[in-house]
Amino acid sequence: MKLFAKDRLIVALDYKTLDEVKDIVNEIGDAVSTYKVGLELFLNTRGEAVEYLHSIDKKVFLDLKFHDIPNTTTMASLFAHKKEVFMFNIHAGGGPTMMRTVAKMLEENNSDSLVIAVTILTSFSEEEVSNHFKTDLNIAELANHWAMETKEAGLHGVVCSPLEAKKIKELCGENFYTICPGVRPAWAVSNDQKRIMTPKMAISNGADFLVVGRPITKAENPVQAAKLILEEIEEGLEGNKE
Ligand code: C5P
Repeated sequence: MKLFAKDRLIVALDYKTLDEVKDIVNEIGDAVSTYKVGLELFLNTRGEAVEYLHSIDKKVFLDLKFHDIPNTTTMASLFAHKKEVFMFNIHAGGGPTMMRTVAKMLEENNSDSLVIAVTILTSFSEEEVSNHFKTDLNIAELANHWAMETKEAGLHGVVCSPLEAKKIKELCGENFYTICPGVRPAWAVSNDQKRIMTPKMAISNGADFLVVGRPITKAENPVQAAKLILEEIEEGLEGNKE
């Protein structure tokens, strides 16, 4: 899939109500084509946020992070596919059988949805991972291992930090997508994000899609903020060609 700068920017709609969503999406207008809908917004609007975005020709990344036995995850994934979302995600921690079963369902249904796996949640510390998973692998090693399992299962990519994107592309190939939050332009505040990269650096480092929320949604001028980020994405893409 040929990805232009605008295809690569996903704006996180971390809101509770449809009215808030309508306000910000109308204000941003044509500058952005893809939005992320998470659990809070999806549940609180009973899924209507997805219908609304589709009704105004926006693409949706449905961020519900399915994690269950293969049959249940696959049924939930079938529903996401039927909603015709551009992208949705499941947890790699659900294991290779679960991921393969989802991939098989996608194939049988000729699905166009991209299915992305979440590896280790960024809220985990090294110590927690070591104690909880009883593993000697550090977070990056475990995330890389699960990214390779995701690829082998036939899914399309992983959510990862832009700091990890290059390594994951090396291990899983150029066509395996990296979807990266933790992106902050030099002019924006970092909020609670810690391991951050600018949009240009993230693209240079192998990020395919950037998930950006507050630097756009809380900006004084969200359209201008989105355009500045798109310019940086362009610069990163130009740099990658050289
Ligand atoms: O406002 P901000 O740009 O920090 O929003 C980033 C979005 O990406 C939020 O919806 C957040 O939940 C999500 N996210 C993240 N870090 C992860 C996974 C998801 O920031 N590791």
